[in-house]
Amino acid sequence: MSLFIDTLKGKRSAETPIWLMRQAGRYLPEYRALRENNSMLQMVQTPELACEVTLQPLRRFPLDAGIIFADILTPLIGMGVNLEFKKGEGPVIDNPIRSVADVSRLRVPKPEENVQYTLDAIKLVVKELNGKTPLIGFSGAPFTLSSYLIEGQSPGDSDLRHTKGLMVSNPEAWHELQEKLVTLSVEYLVAQVEAGCESLQIFDSWLGYVGPREYDRFVEPYLVKIIEQVKARVNVPVVFFATSVSSLFPRLGKLPADAFGVDWRISLPDAAKLIGRPVPLQGNLDPQLLSASWEYVERSARAILEEAATVPAHVFNLGHGVLQYTPVENVQRLIEFVKGYRR
Ligand code: CP3
Repeated sequence: MSLFIDTLKGKRSAETPIWLMRQAGRYLPEYRALRENNSMLQMVQTPELACEVTLQPLRRFPLDAGIIFADILTPLIGMGVNLEFKKGEGPVIDNPIRSVADVSRLRVPKPEENVQYTLDAIKLVVKELNGKTPLIGFSGAPFTLSSYLIEGQSPGDSDLRHTKGLMVSNPEAWHELQEKLVTLSVEYLVAQVEAGCESLQIFDSWLGYVGPREYDRFVEPYLVKIIEQVKARVNVPVVFFATSVSSLFPRLGKLPADAFGVDWRISLPDAAKLIGRPVPLQGNLDPQLLSASWEYVERSARAILEEAATVPAHVFNLGHGVLQYTPVENVQRLIEFVKGYRR
């Protein structure tokens, strides 16, 4: 067992575990060096490179968990969409899903046919880590995956116009799409645990755009399915993460997740009250503020750790991913500060 896994299971310790979303990435010079000669997809699809990039932050910092280097969108490639990561634009799909016929054409391949490269990367990382640090596996949630499949570009750029359009005007196509994504994600998450991951995270990054009535009807049933089906097959903690969802927390609290990620827009005690049951929380430093003066970062981190004293259990993290221009020194000092803090 490890501090990270114990905490996700609800155990309180004097020491707070820490890992950071996007802890591997462009803020690290050794990542940029590899990235110079390889595209994002090449790095994900080459197990040795994905393993190396996963280990980069773990070599530098005393982190309590690693997260496999992949992307929530890579499993969509095998469904039959053309995914590209474009410089300055982020992910782009040039054959987006817009109709019933498009949904019907989507394949649901087994993880071994689709993302064997990530399963191989997990095995390499787990071997290197040799039981010292647990590895996190992950998947996108159906709503967020749908928003990329349907918009074909960053969903926020279009205020999820096509996604919400299809959802309400063509509920049957929407439900068929959700069922396919549930199957894809459950198989993928289970395969990651079988390859050696000790915890799972589900990312629903665009859920904050959805109102409560549509959440109840078009989103919640599939989140419940994924988490229940995964938990029936593998015995690892499942963390649910979304952003800008403070107003949905009373509903999200009913999901069978073991822990919740919290972004920086709400304090941990307020989030705990809204979630309404005693579960561990993960978060929630504003990633932009990690680029502030060290004094400000320290003050913010201390405030979060003090606030966390009233929540059932706490894994320190950012409220979202590490940003590209974050000073490595601040990341280092933050991790050392949290590791040295005792409650
Ligand atoms: O956290 C980690 O270190 C693990 C790897 C990881 C990546 N993406 C690598 C990545 C994880 C867990 C993700 C999840 C992911 N990907 C999410 C959910 C979490 C979140 O951020 O909300 C989403 C929405 C995506 C989709 C995605 N992938 C976007 C929007 C982008 C472009 C953003 C950017 O910073 O350029 C990506 C590309 C991506 N995924 C990068 C990395 C390190 C940048 C790749 C590069 O150009 O080098």
